[in-house]
Amino acid sequence: MPEILTIKHLSKAYFDKTGILTAVKDFSLTVQKGEFIALLGPSGCGKSTILSIISGLIQQTDGEVLFADDIKTAYMLQSDQLFNWRTVYKNAILGLEVQNKLTEENIVRVENMLKDYGLYEFRNHYPSQLSGGMKQRAALIRTLALSPDLLLLDEPFSALDYQSRLAVSDDILRKIKKEEKTVIMVTHDISEAISAADRVVVLTGRPAEIKSIYDIHIPSETESLIKKRQTSEFSKYFDLIWKDLDIHVS
Ligand SMILES: Nc1ncnc2c1ncn2[C@@H]1O[C@H](COP(=O)(O)OP(=O)(O)OP(=O)(O)O)[C@@H](O)[C@H]1O
Ligand SMILES: [Mg+2]
Repeated sequence: MPEILTIKHLSKAYFDKTGILTAVKDFSLTVQKGEFIALLGPSGCGKSTILSIISGLIQQTDGEVLFADDIKTAYMLQSDQLFNWRTVYKNAILGLEVQNKLTEENIVRVENMLKDYGLYEFRNHYPSQLSGGMKQRAALIRTLALSPDLLLLDEPFSALDYQSRLAVSDDILRKIKKEEKTVIMVTHDISEAISAADRVVVLTGRPAEIKSIYDIHIPSETESLIKKRQTSEFSKYFDLIWKDLDIHVS
């Protein structure tokens, strides 16, 4: 598999009135085309900072981010909001509109995604008329509408309660995996990371450094990510990662 992205010795320090805060330290990773990577780490460790640097939204203090030629990247920010004054359809085409890519072909693709994600009947509704899961799907379509080669997702399901989260994430992640896109997804949910990813990168507390990396191999008869959670391999990874994260309840 060809490499799509190489990150070398990435570091990020924020400077403000109170001094320096190091958010990311010596982070290196090579991502292959078609891989699904989960970045897993404790709250506030520097996960969003890493994605924002990869997307080019902010600058690293040190290190390199190298892309293969002509890679289109799309970034779904943590709590990416829909615009309340635009309909679902108008939200979905926003990125295309901004980038001046509202071609017939792209419009048809968005319409097909709206059908695929169960939102077509709601295309003329406003975000306030949607459930949390529907909003999340609409935000994802907006991100996917740009046909990215590399998809950066920051806690895409965090706004949902546990039960809808399981169903919505199972559904959406399967759809994304079917498209064989390259994905880097930030999460603090161990189960979500293991069930969705080919590789789980476990980060330390701030500053985010790589603690461990797991290649995930779960034999599964179905594509259901929920079913994967019931296998013994899943429990094995869960135990290892839980230990790595070193979570204390005080
Ligand atoms: N623009 C900024 N200026 C100063 N400090 C910042 C800035 N952005 C983030 N930080 C700090 O950097 C650290 C890492 O933040 P970041 O948002 O990357 O963590 P995270 O792992 O995504 O957190 P969460 O799990 O809460 O989403 C935090 O301590 C945060 O307060
Ligand atoms: Mg974050």
